[in-house]
Amino acid sequence: MAVAGSAIGLGNFLRFPAKAASNGGGAFMIPYFVSLLLLGIPLMWIEWTLGRFGGGFEHGTAPGIFHNIWRKNRFIKYFGIIGIFGPLVIFIYYTYIESWTLAYSFFSLMGKYAHVADESGMKHFLHGFQGLEHNQYFNGIGWAYLFFLFTFFINIVVIFHGIKGGIEKFCKWAMPLLFCCAAVLLVRVLTLGIPDASRPGWNVVNGIGFLWNPDFQALKSAKVWLEAAGQVFFTLSVGIGVILTYASYLSKGDDVVLSGLSAASTNELAEVILGGSIIIPAAFIFFGPGEMQAIANSGVFNLGFVTMPLVLNKLPLVALFGFLWFFLLFLAGVTSSVSLAQPAIAFLEDEFNIDRKKAVWIFGIVAFILCQPAIFFLKNGVVDELDFWGGTFFLVVFATIETILFAWVFGMEKAWDEIHKGADMRIPKIYKFIIKYITPAFLFLILGMWFWQQWLSIILMKNISAQDKPYILGTRIVLLVVFIVLGVLVKIAWKKRKKKTVNEDDV
Ligand code: ALA
Repeated sequence: MAVAGSAIGLGNFLRFPAKAASNGGGAFMIPYFVSLLLLGIPLMWIEWTLGRFGGGFEHGTAPGIFHNIWRKNRFIKYFGIIGIFGPLVIFIYYTYIESWTLAYSFFSLMGKYAHVADESGMKHFLHGFQGLEHNQYFNGIGWAYLFFLFTFFINIVVIFHGIKGGIEKFCKWAMPLLFCCAAVLLVRVLTLGIPDASRPGWNVVNGIGFLWNPDFQALKSAKVWLEAAGQVFFTLSVGIGVILTYASYLSKGDDVVLSGLSAASTNELAEVILGGSIIIPAAFIFFGPGEMQAIANSGVFNLGFVTMPLVLNKLPLVALFGFLWFFLLFLAGVTSSVSLAQPAIAFLEDEFNIDRKKAVWIFGIVAFILCQPAIFFLKNGVVDELDFWGGTFFLVVFATIETILFAWVFGMEKAWDEIHKGADMRIPKIYKFIIKYITPAFLFLILGMWFWQQWLSIILMKNISAQDKPYILGTRIVLLVVFIVLGVLVKIAWKKRKKKTVNEDDV
């Protein structure tokens, strides 16, 4: 339930519909499912297995796990830093966006946006709230900051109570509640009928058809493949480092095959069935396919924070349905963000013997400071920059390293046995071939395409305005410093460990 909670998040209900809509709906779904079968599910199994394996050596994070896989290589532990750095970077902006969903749940109940009637009004409402403009709705970032503080506090409280007492307990009631909210909304959307009689084509069936009618033309587009693969990583929480840490708490004989598959399936149910059948048909019915695509193209959050409130405003019981929608997002967000904090905390606990409460304090203070630029320089593109490095680029790099270590360094025969230890079911044999050849080849292809198409323009900040460049450069410097600090911490931890081993040998 905790891994499903980590996977099911804002990615399922906000990012997926936006990516699917902006990439042409049905055109997106084939690359999406191919990526799920060839990347997502194999990586899910790899991470569960590596995590359980590392846990046996009392290492719950990638530096220690990688080191135990390839003991002869002195440098491999430093590659594991990505598995702590990535989730920390995502946590920084994710918690802030999560706090918007809490704020909007509150605004729905208060009727604060109930009178806003059009897209431009709703965008001003959102921008006013984010502190990007002063307008009739908000005159500063105060509300947004208040809700951020509250959300951050909730996250820290859950994490503070530990895996069993905090995260698992929270997920056990939040996940069913989340599914209930989603089911109510789904029924509401499916019974919308044809609100505008002059446009009979704008109905639920066509809305769902937009997502499910395949478009084979789009298979030639590299961009659609990249976005689909990126979405699979983000939504399943693979390539981040989180699942390694969660799985490290398993015992040697605990099943990882069925557990990994169950977590992935639960996530996909929430993503393509619930996530895909709420916003997309609702937006289709009220705005039509062209306008819906244009809204999705104008920003990944616009369908969720602009279109959905407008749709709900046209329905009876707007306060209730608005609340359900945003509270659903909030629950999904918290169960994911607490998991993003876990690798950094586990690293402090495992490698420095710091007790959990102290580790949570250290994490809380550092993360709180790092969150500030995302809040105050949102308009300068800081969140997008963090999302690119933490939530896109390093995911693919980390997944590639994991797959190579697992299938080639650890060795596929050994890896296959390790996966099946304590397993309740056997993985189809074809996956032995897929994990060894297809998954790494696919990952190299994605990385290669990225380098080919975007590397130079991203490094040189070619698509960034002169005004925003200092902020983006500043963000990159901060990220680099965080990375180096983690590197130094790994070095210190290993030195200490070596000293301890030598002393024990002397005794
Ligand atoms: N997997 C999480 C999500 O989908 C990060 O939001």
